[in-house]
Amino acid sequence: MAVVKDSMQNRVYQATRQYGGYIQLFHNPVFRKKAIDNLNGRHIINLSTGFNLRDCAPVLVDQLASDATNPFLYRNYEAPSGHPLWIQSVLAHEIIKSSYANQLSSKNIVVVAGSCVTFHYIARYLVENFDAPEVVAPVPTYAGFGENMAPFNIPVIEVVSDRSPGFMPTTEEVSDAITKNTKLIYTGWVNNPTGFVMDKFEAKKLLLLAKEKNVYLMWDETQSTLVSDECESVDMWEIASELDAWDNLIVIASMSKDRGIPSNRSAWVIGPEQIVQRFVEYNGNLYSMPATVLTGLVMKDLLFRSMAFLVKKDIEAGKAYDTFLDLVLKPLDIDDIYDKKVEYRFHQFLIPGLRRFLLDGFLDKGKVLAEYLEFNKWVIDGQRLFKSNFDMVVDMLDLNWDDFRFEMGGFNSFVHIPILDKVNQQKFVESMFVDAGIEILPGPAFGLQPTHWENQLGFWGRITLSSSANLMIEGLNRMLDYARKYR
Ligand SMILES: Cc1ncc(COP(=O)(O)O)c(C=O)c1O
Repeated sequence: MAVVKDSMQNRVYQATRQYGGYIQLFHNPVFRKKAIDNLNGRHIINLSTGFNLRDCAPVLVDQLASDATNPFLYRNYEAPSGHPLWIQSVLAHEIIKSSYANQLSSKNIVVVAGSCVTFHYIARYLVENFDAPEVVAPVPTYAGFGENMAPFNIPVIEVVSDRSPGFMPTTEEVSDAITKNTKLIYTGWVNNPTGFVMDKFEAKKLLLLAKEKNVYLMWDETQSTLVSDECESVDMWEIASELDAWDNLIVIASMSKDRGIPSNRSAWVIGPEQIVQRFVEYNGNLYSMPATVLTGLVMKDLLFRSMAFLVKKDIEAGKAYDTFLDLVLKPLDIDDIYDKKVEYRFHQFLIPGLRRFLLDGFLDKGKVLAEYLEFNKWVIDGQRLFKSNFDMVVDMLDLNWDDFRFEMGGFNSFVHIPILDKVNQQKFVESMFVDAGIEILPGPAFGLQPTHWENQLGFWGRITLSSSANLMIEGLNRMLDYARKYR
């Protein structure tokens, strides 16, 4: 069972229907009350939140707090491509990370209100430009992608690894799903829910496949900024250059889950100018832009990440600071960025103001370097927590490495619980919630049909590793006790 074609039924993506059904169940006040009554004062525990539950790094919160009273940021900024400093920071970050990224310009970047908005935009782009487009999604997958294909009636062809749902399908397996109508493959570096980290070799094969089949590869880097240092990073710009496949690659990134700010929509797309400029128009049509007030936070985050990247290569953080600021400030030449007259006049006044006010928090190099150390500690503490929680999950659930992965990919893991393989998963999740107050999202929330999981793949659940160890221990114990008794 590698390729599955029936994931879209009556314009509803089946994984989202499942995902939404579980979330509704957990939020249903009647069920919630029953759960609380059964818990005798203990907490409901959500083992599957899917985001970093640690508080956002204090240095970023401080930046946001000062930006909230900055007149250049508390009013929303309506340039449809996104705030120019935000765009320049994305560009600077990519250029620092990859010597191949200097082929990019600000015209290749658009800021959007969350990665889910990108899914909506690409669906719209595909139906506007192709007849009966289809897309291919390796599963398990984040269901938001398919959800956004549904209103445009774009079939999502799912591919699952023949090894186990703990792995991602190989490029050969993905290739089997491609038809003459396929226009895009959706996948990324770190998978949600599995935490599987794709390596350079496989990423290159996948982009080559996209080029050969004349389709886009949408490479999702959401949820990938907290990955353990043990994982090899993948330079997609290098791969695109080697394969001459720049026109096939669309990279998306978002900060909402990694930074524990899920209600603040902050994402961006880097891709071929023709597509990105359409997305800019969609932003304008929908008035759908991320809150301007997040600009400074995103800039600092990208600056710190650029510093960490160079430090790993034994280059001092101060060098990244100089390069980043140089790259961000230099191109703020209004003639370059804006060709429309009205915008030109507006920016003539705005840019000097931005330089004066917004950059305040960036100009004292010594202070920024100290903040970087604090931020880096926040990242490392998080990675340690995820790793030790992961080791605990492996021990407590006695996981079988044969159906699993070996890399440590951020804060989600996807685990097989064989004692539950024969249960009706919908009923089990519902009764465990009501009786034991445990929330868990099982396999069908991440692709395929419930019957595939029940008849062939077994019971898998997303376990998010970002809670405190105590909470995780209690949650896992309660789940295991319940599973042992459940028949
Ligand atoms: C892989 C992946 N892509 C996209 C998203 C959606 O991101 P956003 O919150 O920016 O819409 C998520 C959210 O969890 C995700 O895990």
